[in-house]
Amino acid sequence: VDGLELSDDLSRVYWAVLAEVIERAPLGTRDPSQLERAFRGSYHCCFAYHEGKLIGAARAISDGVSHSALYDVVVLPEYQGQGVGSRIVQFLLERLPDKNVMLVSVPDKAGFYERLGFRRLRTAYARLASPDAWQALGYFDGEPVSRRR
Ligand SMILES: CC(C)(COP(=O)(O)OP(=O)(O)OC[C@H]1O[C@@H](n2cnc3c(N)ncnc32)[C@H](O)[C@@H]1OP(=O)(O)O)[C@@H](O)C(=O)NCCC(=O)NCCS
Repeated sequence: VDGLELSDDLSRVYWAVLAEVIERAPLGTRDPSQLERAFRGSYHCCFAYHEGKLIGAARAISDGVSHSALYDVVVLPEYQGQGVGSRIVQFLLERLPDKNVMLVSVPDKAGFYERLGFRRLRTAYARLASPDAWQALGYFDGEPVSRRR
C-alpha cells in the first residue's frame, strides 16, 4: 500500500472508528470506550492510516523486560493481502523487548503469524471467560497434551 502511515498516537484515534475497523476486519464487536481503555492500557499500539483514514491497528501488552503479547491485529478487508498486517506487527515487534512475544491466532490466520516467525506452542494454556464460545470457534486442541505420546 503506497503512502501507508504507521502511528502510535493515541490522541489521534476516534475509538468508534477503530471499533468499526475491528468489526469489519472482522474481529468482533467492541464497545468504543472499553476499546479506548484497552489500547490506553497497553504497552504499545500501532494504528495504520492510508490517505488519513484508519485502515488497521494492533496493540501489545508487555512487562517491558522479557514478556509481551499481541492483541487485536486487524486490517480492513479491502486492504488485506497487501502487507499491511505484517507492517503493523513488525512496528510493534521493533518496540517490544527483544524476547518472548505470545499471541493467540484466530484459527484460520495461523499462517500469517508463522510467516512472521511465530511458532505454535504445544502447552500454551488460557483461563477464559467464555470457554464454550472459544470451543465453538475451534481454539482448543482435541485432548489434553499430557495424554499424548
Ligand atoms: C490477519 C490479518 C491482520 C493479516 O493482515 P494482512 O494485511 O492481510 O496480511 P499481509 O498482507 O501482511 O500478509 C502477510 C503474509 O501472510 C500471509 N497471510 C495472510 N493471511 C493469511 C492467512 N489467513 N493464512 C495464511 N497466510 C496468510 C500473506 O499471504 C502474506 O504472505 P507473503 O508474505 O508470503 O506474501 C488480516 O487478514 C485481518 O485483519 N483479518 C481479520 C482479523 C483477524 O483475524 N485478525 C487476526 C487476529 S489473531
